[in-house]
Parts: sequence; structure tokens; C-alpha cells
Amino acid sequence: MKTLISGENLTKSFGLGAEKRNVLDGISVDIHQGEFVAVMGPSGSGKSTLLYALSGMDSVDSGSVTFDGADLSALKENDLADLRRTKMGFVFQQPTLLRNLDILDNIILPAMRDSRKNGAQLTEKAQRLMKKTGIAGLEMRDITQASGGQLQRVGICRALMGDPKIIFGDEPTGALNSTAANEIMALLADIHRSGVTILLVTHDVRVAAKTERVLFLLDGNIAGEYQPGVYNATHDDLKTREEALTAWLAEMKF
Ligand SMILES: Nc1ncnc2c1ncn2[C@@H]1O[C@H](COP(=O)(O)OP(=O)(O)O)[C@@H](O)[C@H]1O
Ligand SMILES: [Mg+2]
Repeated sequence: MKTLISGENLTKSFGLGAEKRNVLDGISVDIHQGEFVAVMGPSGSGKSTLLYALSGMDSVDSGSVTFDGADLSALKENDLADLRRTKMGFVFQQPTLLRNLDILDNIILPAMRDSRKNGAQLTEKAQRLMKKTGIAGLEMRDITQASGGQLQRVGICRALMGDPKIIFGDEPTGALNSTAANEIMALLADIHRSGVTILLVTHDVRVAAKTERVLFLLDGNIAGEYQPGVYNATHDDLKTREEALTAWLAEMKF
């Protein structure tokens, strides 16, 4: 399998002197093209920090991140921003949306910097994505007139506007009820099946059990890795996967 992201010996610390803490303590990790990977670990174990390091959203103190052949630390800020915009999509617990724009414009706005497409093309694309993610018809709505699950879909549409190679998710279902969380996971699974690599942080076993590889972070290192393999909703029993993952996490002292 082709490597999409290679993180080598990543270190990052916060604080000074006696307060200094190595949040990333020499992590090496490869994410392959087409994978669906979850990062788990206790609160404060460095999950978000690792995600930000691998996506170039935040710098590291030492070590290197190679993304799709490019050494992120060697890129100028502009080039890094371009690469993030054209090859990566981000989904957080809650999308940051603008209140004075309708939903369609919220989806399109970040993509307007991409001069290759005109407004009509962007609108057409956004509407296609809204249909695919089950929010067709909400184009002209105010963001206050949509549910948390719907807004998360808006965030996902926005993340897909640039046809990213990878979606990074930092607890993308963390603020949702279980029904909405399941729907978002089904959507992410669809996106994964269409060929997009997905790397998400979660503390929810029900979410991680649907991914194909789980990394467990502890004290700034990867303490273990579990590979349930690709989840097939028709053939695989989810409960069995969740129980196996829970047992493994218990061994990891989660
Ligand atoms: N910008 C920052 N300044 C200071 N400390 C930070 C910063 N970001 C993260 N940390 C600290 O690093 C540790 C790991 O944070 P984080 O990666 O957010 O953990 P997780 O996502 O696993 O909960 C925490 O102890 C947190 O307080
Ligand atoms: Mg976090």
C-alpha cells in the first residue's frame, strides 16, 4: 500500500522548565493511501496534537512529516496552506460556520480561493455534495435553522469541496447524539469507500470499531495498534467488533 503520510520521530512539548511536557515523545507513524484509521487514548494523551502535526496545522519540535511526497517542514507557509486546501479536509467536533451566510455559501466560501472553478461550478459541486450527504434542500437556510447532525454534514461538504485525498477528523461525532453519530459514521464510511483516506480521533468504541486500524496513544507514544480490518456493514457483526476492541483497550489500560 502506498504511504500517504509518514511521521518520523515526532516530538512536541508544551511548557517550560519543570512544567515541560513531551506531548509527542518520538512518535513514528505511517498512514497509507485509502486507509480508515482511528486514534484513541486518554484525554490529554496527545491525539489532537498528533493530528495537527500530521496535517501540518501545527509544527513539531523535531522529526519530520512527509505528506504525499512533500516534506511539510520544508514548505513555505503559503505552499503549506495551498497543500492543505487542495489535498486535505478537516472535520472537527463542531464546524466553524458563519452566521451571516446561508448554508450553501458556508460550504462554498473556503473553496472560492481556488480560482480554477467559477461560482456556478462551485454551487453545482456544493449541491451535489449536499445531496450525497443528505442535506439537499437546506441551501438557503440559516445555520441556526439546522440540527447538530445537519451542521456536521455541512462541515463535511465543506471539507469535500477541494476533493481531498484525506479527511482528518478530531472527534467528529463527539458533540452528537448516538443516532446522528451513526449517520455521520455511515457517511464517513461512504466517503472512505469512494477512495478518500480517513484519519480520525475518537474516544468512542462504537466509532473506532467501524474503522480498519486503531492506534492507541499513551504518554506521547503509540502504545499499541489494533487492526479490526475493513468494516463491512452487511457481513460484519458490529457488536462483535466493539467487544473485541473494548477487550483490547482494556489490555491497553484505557
Ligand atoms: N497550545 C497548547 N499549549 C499548552 N499546552 C497544550 C497545548 N495544546 C495541547 N496542550 C497540552 O498537551 C496535552 C495533549 O493535548 P491534546 O493533544 O489536545 O490531547 P488529546 O487530544 O489527546 O486530549 C494536554 O496536556 C494539553 O493540555
Ligand atoms: Mg483532543
